[in-house]
Amino acid sequence: MSETRTFDVQDVTLRFGGVVSLSHVTLFQKSGEILAVIGPNGAGKTSLFNSLTGVYQPQEGTITFTGANGRATSIIGKKAHRVAALGVARTFQASRMFSALTVFENVKIGAESHRGFGAVGAMLRGPRTRRDERESDQDTLRLLEFVGLRNQANTVSASLSYGDRRRLEIARGLATKPQVLLLDEPAAGTNPAEKIELTDLIRKVRDEMGVSILLIEHDMKLVMSLAERLYVLNFGSVIAEGTPDEIRANPVVIEAYLGSSASETGGR
Ligand SMILES: Nc1ncnc2c1ncn2[C@@H]1O[C@H](COP(=O)(O)OP(=O)(O)O)[C@@H](O)[C@H]1O
Ligand SMILES: [Mg+2]
Repeated sequence: MSETRTFDVQDVTLRFGGVVSLSHVTLFQKSGEILAVIGPNGAGKTSLFNSLTGVYQPQEGTITFTGANGRATSIIGKKAHRVAALGVARTFQASRMFSALTVFENVKIGAESHRGFGAVGAMLRGPRTRRDERESDQDTLRLLEFVGLRNQANTVSASLSYGDRRRLEIARGLATKPQVLLLDEPAAGTNPAEKIELTDLIRKVRDEMGVSILLIEHDMKLVMSLAERLYVLNFGSVIAEGTPDEIRANPVVIEAYLGSSASETGGR
């Protein structure tokens, strides 16, 4: 059997008026892979994530997602909630958790949106069976254990450290039982010790849950230790692809990215 591609992106172009955010982007992710997309600010990384998740609709090209059932689905033209239902979860560059709710409640809402209630429906819905409720609670606690937040289940999310917030966002993504988890700068704002813990957690998500990981990250040390393969974007175009060693040694990358943004990558 040939390898499955979680995402297959062919010749995708995305424009906003005169601004070209993505220009003829072609790339793929193998099922089970930890793949990273790097590039300077404004390179198009978040635009790519938004295109993969149905938030943006590219004018040209094709994006195909293949889930665990082997069925290939075209993404462009689908709404974000339909893409999510296929098994695509993501975290955002800026945190989107409900900061007034506890850690437990935040993850439970993620789990329930997967069960078809939606985040608002989960809060407004009428009574459910006790069995459903208990299963959902157990799923939530298991996930909190997995990401290392079991002891903080009842902590109000706003009072978490940056590192724990990032764990919570990952748990929320996993609560939808995805095939692939897209992480937009998961280590932003964290300290060096938290970065190492996050690296371990992301690897564990892939190894133990079998979830493919697609990662945008500014911290070069983190991304090079975690990713099995990388694409480099610059001005909306893919300028390089390869293993961490290949990317480090690629003169085009050094010229366009590593050299020009050394201060930026060192500062985070
Ligand atoms: N919703 C939008 N409207 C207009 N321009 C956008 C929008 N989203 C992204 N862009 C533009 O696309 C380019 C790439 O941005 P982005 O994908 O956020 O880059 P990155 O995440 O790599 O920093 C930028 O020029 C940005 O201004
Ligand atoms: Mg971005």
